[in-house]
Amino acid sequence: MKKYNVAVVGASGAVGEEILRVIEEIDFPLARMVPLASSRSAGNTVMFNGDEIVIKELTETVFEEEEIEIALFSAGGSVSAKYAPHAAAAGAVVIDNTSHFRMDDDVPLVVPEVNPEDIARWKIKGIIANPNCSTIQMVQALKPLDDAYDLLRVDVATYQATSGAGKSAMEELVRQMQDFFAFKLDESEHAKFPHQIALNLIPQIDVFLDSGYTKEEIKMVNETKKILHKNVELSATCVRVPVLRGHSEAVTMTFDSAVTAEEARSILAQAPNIIVQDKPEESIYPMPAACVDRNETFVGRIRNDLYREEMLHMWVVADNLRVGAATNAVRIAQKWIELGGFDA
Ligand code: A2P
Repeated sequence: MKKYNVAVVGASGAVGEEILRVIEEIDFPLARMVPLASSRSAGNTVMFNGDEIVIKELTETVFEEEEIEIALFSAGGSVSAKYAPHAAAAGAVVIDNTSHFRMDDDVPLVVPEVNPEDIARWKIKGIIANPNCSTIQMVQALKPLDDAYDLLRVDVATYQATSGAGKSAMEELVRQMQDFFAFKLDESEHAKFPHQIALNLIPQIDVFLDSGYTKEEIKMVNETKKILHKNVELSATCVRVPVLRGHSEAVTMTFDSAVTAEEARSILAQAPNIIVQDKPEESIYPMPAACVDRNETFVGRIRNDLYREEMLHMWVVADNLRVGAATNAVRIAQKWIELGGFDA
């Protein structure tokens, strides 16, 4: 079986590190791993399969020099904008975790459990986009229900962990908690978030648009439509919460026909990479603290609407660095290989 030279761009970052962990854990046809970052981290090492490997500097020519075949990008939109075309021109398939190419008509946006067939369009630009973390876990749960009942509308409120904004954002929360215990939270600084995040909730992720929605909220709207190939109505409220890892979502769905919680529960229990945790009488439901390092999406609190039989509510939780980023990117690579790789 063919083995591939893989580059992880942003290997010193929160998602990049997680990509290395996910590849270590699975049976990936790897020839060589090449971690890349900026000159700040180049020369440092990362652990991979028990070895310390040196981070190389990301340059326009590194993909050709290292004969990279699969390039997993997670170093921010502007880095992808500049360097992903060089990786593709060097013959690699790029799997991009940033928002930069997601809505490009010539770039497939893929969640392998939902729209694996779109991977076939990778050849147009040599790039496959990985959706937003909040979108991935939600569409994984929406897809099987849409197949069964025809989804018309989604209303979602998210509870998003600080790691979605990178390592320094996690550190900001920890630092503020330390300041709280030292009775100096008032003096604590914030750089990654518009307000103090410790002991707080911030109903703003990314910048506001003219519509009154944030960019993060509109990403969920546009990406869900592109992935499901469906003009579903969607309204999102995205909230940053003082959790380090694990995004949670309260999702309300309106279908074309009547649906029962019991049926939905059994459909979701059979869906790929979904675990139903739904025993309210025993206080069993998904929670972010219990999803860390897991590659599955957890669904619970599945219940009928009190008034309308075509509406259903659920609570969806996943590790945003894994399911919402690294795991999905690696699964795209695996699916791309399964579908024929360069010959697909
Ligand atoms: P570096 O350590 O060199 O700054 P996070 O999302 O956790 O903040 O991580 C961002 C990742 O993206 C890090 O690995 C960071 O590397 C990398 N990165 C940021 N800017 C660049 C750049 N201009 N070129 C290459 N890598 C970059």
